[in-house]
Amino acid sequence: MGELRTLKLRMLYIPSSLCASVPLRETVISLITATVTVMAFCHNASGQQAGVGPSVPDATRIVGSDQCAKCHQLEVQQWMKTPHFATFDALHRTPRAKEIADRLGERSIKRSSTCVQCHYTEQNQGGRMRVVAGVSCESCHGGAADWITVHADYGGEGVTKEREPSEHRMKRVEESIAHGMNNPHNIYLIARQCYDCHTVPNERLVNVGGHLAGSEEFELVSWSQGMVRHNFLRTGGTANGLPSPAELRVMYVVGVMTDLEYSLRATAVASQKATFGVTSAQRAARMKRRLHEIQKVTDDPLIQLALDAIASVELRLGNAEAITAAADGVGKAAHEFAEKADGTNLSALDALLPKPNQYKN
Ligand code: HEC
Ligand code: HEC
Ligand code: HEC
Ligand code: HEC
Repeated sequence: MGELRTLKLRMLYIPSSLCASVPLRETVISLITATVTVMAFCHNASGQQAGVGPSVPDATRIVGSDQCAKCHQLEVQQWMKTPHFATFDALHRTPRAKEIADRLGERSIKRSSTCVQCHYTEQNQGGRMRVVAGVSCESCHGGAADWITVHADYGGEGVTKEREPSEHRMKRVEESIAHGMNNPHNIYLIARQCYDCHTVPNERLVNVGGHLAGSEEFELVSWSQGMVRHNFLRTGGTANGLPSPAELRVMYVVGVMTDLEYSLRATAVASQKATFGVTSAQRAARMKRRLHEIQKVTDDPLIQLALDAIASVELRLGNAEAITAAADGVGKAAHEFAEKADGTNLSALDALLPKPNQYKN
């Protein structure tokens, strides 16, 4: 893991698309002030809102979790115990979901392109789009058609895990990423998937549909190490192990940076002063404060890079371009931090990390 972190893994993130907003009146508020009292969001005359869509995997690259089960049975069993799996059968039956869909004029939840983005996995089956699962392996790890073979190849017929040269191992991970895998060797690649869904960056869904404006309690360590955890490989057996303290520290910092990045992206597309914009901007401000706390004890140049990227950006309506540029800067720093940081030097963070009894089960 350590040696892999030093690899120059290619930057592979695509900034979410933007939609323009039309501010009528603006009161400048700044992220820098500790108290986020006013959010100057005004009504957008057109009421149109394209929203930033989450980075949904390409439906033509989806192979389905049955394929993963051939080699990752325990991971699949663990996944089946989570709401990510259950939402497939459960969501459309709940009164809350029907209420949200009604307000949006959506007749079928499973056919609504909006709900499908975050609650389901869509597969292109010979030209026909089918919803095949809830939030699945490939929602987090990326559509696998182009990487499934390369990620599992230790170096040809008969080469075992034990006999794989470390050079080949690095190359395998690098190639899997180049072919679209969100490989946990760089935890940012997966974190951005979590936050793209869990910030709920869709203004109409929230303000008109009444959907939750993101999972406000979301924190990467506690939300990934409870019911979601499926770390069987690293224990080399059947136990679902915890990451090392060093890995948890890196994950914690990457989580805060990525939360900041994605709540900025959501803030950028807000067009009115209402629940969506206010909640997103407050979340960004909260994450900025948390990152400052982290930096107080780490004094890390990459964290500083993220803080510099947002130092002067104003969280107000009509400032999409600057807010998105700040988000890009934070994301870039998070990607690099995930790649390079050595968690063994970050024990000063331990007091900030969530405790195992806080993990989400
Ligand atoms: C043919 C067997 C096989 C299939 C099918 C398979 N995997 Fe793997 N997977 C492996 C092997 C082998 C490894 C490497 C384990 C190691 O590092 O020793 C691995 C590792 C991983 C890792 C850890 C990262 C890494 O590169 O080591 C992830 C994540 C993963 N697989 C996800 C998936 C997903 C998602 C699917 C289905 C889309 C899938 N795998 C299908 C065999 C398979
Ligand atoms: C941008 C991503 C995203 C989209 C789009 C989305 N959801 Fe959700 N939804 C989530 C997340 C994330 C949660 C889990 C929130 C939590 O538990 O913290 C959730 C939870 C829910 C819940 C349970 C929580 C509650 O409020 O009772 C319902 C119901 C729901 N969504 C309905 C819908 C419907 C209906 C649609 C389509 C019209 C939809 N969602 C579209 C991300 C999304
Ligand atoms: C494709 C969108 C998507 C991605 C990616 C995603 N989630 Fe979720 N997550 C959801 C939705 C939707 C729900 C709620 C499902 C429901 O209740 O119907 C949810 C629910 C959860 C829950 C249960 C929350 C509760 O209150 O019980 C946890 C924990 C969670 N997600 C953690 C994560 C973590 C950690 C990641 C990244 C490693 C992640 N999620 C990535 C969409 C997503
Ligand atoms: C909600 C997002 C999410 C979903 C869904 C998901 N994974 Fe993962 N996966 C992760 C994260 C995050 C990690 C890294 C966790 C860590 O380092 O503790 C990971 C790690 C892994 C690993 C490496 C574990 C190890 O011990 O190193 C494998 C293998 C894997 N996933 C396979 C799968 C398979 C197969 C599925 C579907 C059954 C799946 N994942 C579904 C987020 C997800």
